[in-house]
Amino acid sequence: MTTRRDAFARRIGVRFPVIAAPMAGAAGPELAIAALKAGGLGSLPCALLAIEQMHAQADEVRGAIGGPLHLNFFCHDMPDDADETAWRALLAPYYSALGVAPPEGPGVMRLPFSEAQCAAVEAIRPEIVSFHFGLPGPALLARVKAAGACILASATTVREAQWLAAQGIDAVIAQGAEAGGHASHFLDGAPETHMGLFALLPQIVDAVPVPVIAAGGIADARGVAAAFILGASAVQLGTAFLHGPENRITPMHRAALSGPDAAHTQFTRLFTGRPARGIPNRLMRDLGAMNPAAPPFPHASIALAPLKAAAEAQGDTGFSSLWAGQASLLARPMSAGERITTLMADTDRLLADAARERI
Ligand SMILES: Cc1cc2nc3c(=O)[nH]c(=O)nc-3n(C[C@H](O)[C@H](O)[C@H](O)COP(=O)(O)O)c2cc1C
Repeated sequence: MTTRRDAFARRIGVRFPVIAAPMAGAAGPELAIAALKAGGLGSLPCALLAIEQMHAQADEVRGAIGGPLHLNFFCHDMPDDADETAWRALLAPYYSALGVAPPEGPGVMRLPFSEAQCAAVEAIRPEIVSFHFGLPGPALLARVKAAGACILASATTVREAQWLAAQGIDAVIAQGAEAGGHASHFLDGAPETHMGLFALLPQIVDAVPVPVIAAGGIADARGVAAAFILGASAVQLGTAFLHGPENRITPMHRAALSGPDAAHTQFTRLFTGRPARGIPNRLMRDLGAMNPAAPPFPHASIALAPLKAAAEAQGDTGFSSLWAGQASLLARPMSAGERITTLMADTDRLLADAARERI
């Protein structure tokens, strides 16, 4: 008998229905290659990449290993007004204390899927494209489909999942509130009402006619098996892969993932202007994690850049976004390849036990 997860793995061209999540700023070709080599799906997050970097990273993955190439993009609306006056005033004492000047230029920001990125997708022809914060407009979406990509997108509510499925995408990622990094709210989500994966996943599975990928708080085989029993066709793990060597986070961020504060991850809008889950640090404690003075996404990160750089140079993560999900302390340090093969073997054992009513 073909299971839902086998059918989906076959549909996207991998052996195992496990996705090493796209993690902008934290993961690149190394993780994508390691995941593909182990039989899972890797990801290339493109939200912070220039077009030449996208091409170079896609070439790097394709040069290293065959299998599906997965590119990930953000689809937020850019705000009309991003007045930073109150935000910069709040940060002024930190600039003085750290002896740095507030930045003057626009800086590197997370930008929404654009005409130029779409043209790059048409040239690269990735097998899979995923979107966070909704979908691009109909014309760009039609071009991505015409380029032959299987399209995935994240939903944080049942209504978002239904909306995504109605746009004709191939699978929905159910992102529970436990997830590390940005919550993908785009229609009606908010941190206070964001459901955990146990409640969200089966409701989305019941509500949409396409396969559902479970994301948020999955860090070992028990989470994977539970997601499959709740109806998922695949799982997407982010934080767990941050515990391995194939990512681009600082050693300080990696250490924090196993430290005592990892038990108390929180949504914060301070680092980008949108709620994202991370490990609490000095800025969150001083200003309040959801302080409304931070300008709207993606502008908040610009004013923080020099503070982050100066503090990190002194071994201090007080101004760094330490993205992590609620299950960080469940994850063990291991390579991406070992994680994927261990997860799948242990999940098979757990599901076989469940079938024999051993659990
Ligand atoms: C450091 C970090 C960066 C992330 N960046 C992205 C991103 O660029 N695009 C995206 O679609 N999701 C991003 N996410 C969310 C993941 O796709 C996924 O929903 C989440 O990692 C799953 O929860 P977990 O971290 O508990 O495994 C990010 C997550 C983390 C931890």
